[in-house]
Amino acid sequence: MELRLENLTKIFTNKTGTDTRAVDDLSITIESGTLVGLLGPSGCGKSTTLFMIAGLLKPTSGKIFFGDDDVTKLAPEKRGIGLVFQNYALYPHMTVYKNIMFPLENMDVPRDEAIARVKEMANLVGIGTMLDRKPAQLSGGQQQRVAIARALVKKPRVLLLDEPLSNLDARLRLQMREEIKRIQRETGITTVFVTHDQEEAMSISDKMVVLNFGVEQQYAAPQIMYNEPANLFVAKFLGNPPINTLEADIKNGYLMINDQKFMKFNVKDGSYMIGMRPEHFRVAEKNSEEKVKVDIKEIFHVGRDTMIHFELNGQNIRALVDSDSVEDNDNTVELTLRRNRIYIFDKDTGKVIDHD
Ligand SMILES: Nc1ncnc2c1ncn2[C@@H]1O[C@H](COP(=O)(O)OP(=O)(O)OP(=O)(O)O)[C@@H](O)[C@H]1O
Ligand SMILES: [Mg+2]
Repeated sequence: MELRLENLTKIFTNKTGTDTRAVDDLSITIESGTLVGLLGPSGCGKSTTLFMIAGLLKPTSGKIFFGDDDVTKLAPEKRGIGLVFQNYALYPHMTVYKNIMFPLENMDVPRDEAIARVKEMANLVGIGTMLDRKPAQLSGGQQQRVAIARALVKKPRVLLLDEPLSNLDARLRLQMREEIKRIQRETGITTVFVTHDQEEAMSISDKMVVLNFGVEQQYAAPQIMYNEPANLFVAKFLGNPPINTLEADIKNGYLMINDQKFMKFNVKDGSYMIGMRPEHFRVAEKNSEEKVKVDIKEIFHVGRDTMIHFELNGQNIRALVDSDSVEDNDNTVELTLRRNRIYIFDKDTGKVIDHD
């Protein structure tokens, strides 16, 4: 089912009367059956957005639609949502079976069907053999699976996950990430997955929303957002190692790097912020005209790649290049990037400036 947010805004007013715009005029449409990652730094409004979708927080203004239903004023239990939080919030005294069954207790689901559903969900999340255990007898990952099964057992219209993997160790987090993706695919349920971890969001999402100070920065598929960031914030938020940024002039139509004409751009002359991802650098062909010669400060071998450090326009820059394209004793190297991998941002607004 499609989930639509229309101009959703949440303003918290504290006792001294100062306002926090936790979510600011957010409008997005989440297509039926997709998994959308809601991503951004701490305090950017991710949980607030999720809680408004769940009905646990009342929007200051704006609307929420589940399909054609305006659910903005509907109580949480009437919305048909499944919720999973960072701390699994299982009932410690109940068995896994009872924990998953719990949401069905007050519903008009026939006993046989309820039992069948509990078993189906337990199998779906891979804990079908642990139904008699108590939560304390499960690992963190297994507990989170129970929480997911419990969220799904009512067959919700929307699944909402708020940092569900943050309490798990790194290895388990990777495994559960794939599991959640699989479960989401198998059930086809429209899902919003909150995380502050860009890599996690990139790997799990069909599409991502990046928020900053409650304001949507971009809504796109992970790879599109990575390769075509809408602004400097998104460019810097995605990627590890992070994107390099430097100030540079465009003079007489040329991007000037280290006082050299680097590349021609159809962007008006002026001073800009430039973004270049470490892995987009390449060692230039001998006869290339669009290249810059740099003094290598350091060389590190990282697996099959080589990381080199150098300066562009006085900024420390890192580039990842093929390990056989530089030698340990090289002092200089000529580098280039494809022109569509050079990002030009307005210095004031941070907005990307399109170029050919
Ligand atoms: N009940 C509240 N009263 C006042 N301010 C609040 C309340 N809840 C959240 N805020 C503020 O709203 C903003 C957004 O908070 P929110 O919890 O949505 O952030 P988040 O993106 O989920 O962050 P995190 O990654 O740390 O969980 C923050 O500035 C926060 O301090
Ligand atoms: Mg949060």
